[in-house]
Amino acid sequence: MDLLAALTEEWTPGPELARRLGKSRQAVAKEAARLAEAGFPVEVSKRGYRVAPGAPVPGNVLPKLKGRFGRPYRYHGTLTSTQDALRSLAEAGAPEGTVVLAERQTAGRGRRGRRWESPGGGLYFSLLLRPALPLDRLPLLPLAAGVGLVRAVGVGGLKWPNDLLAFVDGSFKKLGGVLLEAEVLGEEIHYALLGVGLNVAEEGLPEEGAGLLRFFPGVRRDELLVRVLVALEHALAELADPEAFVRTYKLHSLTLFRPVYARWVGEPIAGVAVDVEPTGALVVRTRRGRRKRVTAGEVALVGRVSEVMG
Ligand code: BTN
Repeated sequence: MDLLAALTEEWTPGPELARRLGKSRQAVAKEAARLAEAGFPVEVSKRGYRVAPGAPVPGNVLPKLKGRFGRPYRYHGTLTSTQDALRSLAEAGAPEGTVVLAERQTAGRGRRGRRWESPGGGLYFSLLLRPALPLDRLPLLPLAAGVGLVRAVGVGGLKWPNDLLAFVDGSFKKLGGVLLEAEVLGEEIHYALLGVGLNVAEEGLPEEGAGLLRFFPGVRRDELLVRVLVALEHALAELADPEAFVRTYKLHSLTLFRPVYARWVGEPIAGVAVDVEPTGALVVRTRRGRRKRVTAGEVALVGRVSEVMG
């Protein structure tokens, strides 16, 4: 057994760990320092060693898992991006439900090629999907992931397509986001990598981010992860009926009926968001009364209707 697997949330004195692992006390101290350096939430005090309470270590997560997602569970201290690690597993034939989680990412990716800051204390994971869905429902996958997130977290709402936002200190701040990278073969979705980033602590976040600890002091990351995985499984199953699913999605939308600027591959569109279609497209009514469909990219929420309607 290695040191990380031997640790619990209770302090264990160094001599006891050394005896159990058949190592010297110095070797245990060195190994603990190496794990902490690698990003694992190992704590050291006069009372001994422990893992930080609520850490998503396998010993905390595996007994709590409820659905199909999270098996197998690959836990890391630091990765470049959990998406890259999961892609290798997917290519090697890993099953749907495989999860890769890292305590920190050095090259975390956001949507539209942006960086995703991943300081210690957040929740960063990728879930492998092998969905038996027709290709034209692929754009609904990220929306379903957003619905799963907002239900699991219990605060905030969704900026189209799937940013989890909450009103904090007078403006909307980002609590989390979803990045979907799909591998399509012909007309089939071979697999999809659903990357989820949730801000938990406030330290190291960009200005537009906010941490869930504000809303839920003492929130346990292991429990949050399990709640998110269960909620994702339910939300993804709802895609069997796209019309009903989109009605549910709209209930969580912070974009609908607001003035928006849509930036996407086509011309920027300014107007009021008036609908989300069962295809997942956002419909924006422009100043001239035209209905424009936004199928990719993202929108910015704007303060006043007059800003976009002239
Ligand atoms: C966004 O809102 O732009 C999407 C952010 C997605 C971030 C997560 S963190 C885990 C996974 N690995 C990554 O590199 N990105 C996603």
